[in-house]
Amino acid sequence: MIRYTDTIEGLTPANLVGFFVGWPNPPTPETHLEILRGSDEVVLAVDGETGNVVGFSSAVTDGVLASYIPLLEVLPRHRGKGIGRELVRRMLAKLDGFYMIDIACDRELVPFYTPFGLRPAHAMVIRNYDRQSGRAGREQERP
Ligand SMILES: CC(C)(COP(=O)(O)OP(=O)(O)OC[C@H]1O[C@@H](n2cnc3c(N)ncnc32)[C@H](O)[C@@H]1OP(=O)(O)O)[C@@H](O)C(=O)NCCC(=O)NCCS
Repeated sequence: MIRYTDTIEGLTPANLVGFFVGWPNPPTPETHLEILRGSDEVVLAVDGETGNVVGFSSAVTDGVLASYIPLLEVLPRHRGKGIGRELVRRMLAKLDGFYMIDIACDRELVPFYTPFGLRPAHAMVIRNYDRQSGRAGREQERP
């Protein structure tokens, strides 16, 4: 049984194992929790029995005009059951009212997002692969 929540209350790194599949230098579960804590919005799909997260999405916003959904992932063995779509549906509902709602994705995922009203557009990005596991020095920046 999967339940959905928009809070990280009570969540520990142990509940966040197995994400960032295929990333050569993935964030640790501890860093993953930090990412969720630093996001303006999160939606989690949680296994009702174990309390472990099986899918998540995060968003950052300026609170007025612009919002961006940097991360969406469902654990491989839970894919293809509608969890990804439900995470997107719930996240878009949270971001309703923003002028800009942006997601950068690979071309193959365009059909996944199109039914939600998202349309393809060009994006310019920087990817510092040596920082894929997290930003240097962030530990010092947090109080
Ligand atoms: C994309 C992702 C979140 C979808 O989660 P999910 O729970 O499997 O999604 P759903 O079950 O709701 O929907 C699955 C649909 O997405 C499509 N889909 C998922 N990943 C796809 C991919 N890489 N390429 C093409 N289609 C894809 C499936 O074909 C399926 O479509 P169908 O129902 O018409 O057959 C999941 O595949 C994932 O975590 N992928 C790795 C991370 C990723 O790519 N995230 C998106 C970042 S922009």
